[in-house]
Amino acid sequence: MRILAIESSCDETAAAVVEDGRTVLSSVVASQMVMHGKYGGVVPELASREHLRAIVPVVREALAESRTSLAELDAIAATVGPGLVGSLLVGLTYAKSLSFASGVPLIAVNHIEGHIHAVIMEAARAGAAVEYPALALVVSGGHTHLFEVSAGFQYRLLGRTRDDAAGEAFDKVAKLLGFGYPGGPIIDRLAPHGDPYAVRFTFAKMKGNALDFSFSGLKTAVLRWVQAHEMADEIARRTLLRDGCQPTTEQWLAVTPPRTLDLLASFQHAVIHELLTRATASAETMDARTLIVSGGVACNSGLRQAARSAKLPYPVYFPSPGLSTDNAAMIGAAAFPKLLRREFASLEIPAQANLTLA
Ligand code: KG4
Ligand code: ZN
Repeated sequence: MRILAIESSCDETAAAVVEDGRTVLSSVVASQMVMHGKYGGVVPELASREHLRAIVPVVREALAESRTSLAELDAIAATVGPGLVGSLLVGLTYAKSLSFASGVPLIAVNHIEGHIHAVIMEAARAGAAVEYPALALVVSGGHTHLFEVSAGFQYRLLGRTRDDAAGEAFDKVAKLLGFGYPGGPIIDRLAPHGDPYAVRFTFAKMKGNALDFSFSGLKTAVLRWVQAHEMADEIARRTLLRDGCQPTTEQWLAVTPPRTLDLLASFQHAVIHELLTRATASAETMDARTLIVSGGVACNSGLRQAARSAKLPYPVYFPSPGLSTDNAAMIGAAAFPKLLRREFASLEIPAQANLTLA
């Protein structure tokens, strides 16, 4: 059974054809990263315009590469939320139009569920089926959530960020220090060059749900550190360096002194510590049999390394880098169980910027 999946919730226009929920016949991603990089973050209005420009060629390419015609499709899946409403509308409206014109049914997919299914799909492909109940840690630019996932794909929210998402914290700290957007991959590459114990960050004790996250205090602590140190010159050098290009790690290192590398390493270490502490505590509360980590921040090599070193009593699955950040193959994977249940969406379904999973 073949699904054409479309994803446009943020700054990637993506389309994929996925067979039986596990074989990715094609996966095309047109990233707008370079365009938004100039502004230090995603500009919603520009994102929508860029999706409009990219959606037709991206879907065409996904169909052509998988050698699939519209008539061979069993469903067309699209992300309905959460995300930027102007961005969501482009992919969703295009999917609805294709569905209307071709008579192929529409499936609505929650973006967060897509991130979780990216990992389940890859594990299945590797012959290592995920055991349930699983704990999913979804960490991206917009989300930091802990969900209990049951075998029938029911979700229970165990914890979430009260303020910034983990990826957002990476992006904001990078921006503050004059690095480009997105900040996560840059900090990931530079952190191994610094001492993760050089700057001690403390987290305030959370009131209420102990499994919730908060990253805004950490961001403020980095800001205070920057204000307490004379950094204007080095920040200006980095801003100049990234003007019009994507610097290499060596180029960043040439304009980043050791104390700033220590700051980056300590910041990343603090984020990883928070993520893994809450994830392992959540896993205990629900007797998790598997830990799934997904979303853009799941690319982070420090997080992967720390999860491996922790020797947790259950298997931990990370998606491959291409399936960690936004893509449409994960939307096709999440749509497959819905296709089996014939859970089709009406063509009237709206895009939902604040859609929740549980
Ligand atoms: O899943 P994603 O592509 O989009 C959202 O749904 O938000 O995640 C993008 C986020 C950005 O905040 C980016 O900085 C972060 O993921 N990210 C990383 C890494 N690669 C991407 N954060 C830390 N380390 C990385 N290697
Ligand atoms: Zn995402």
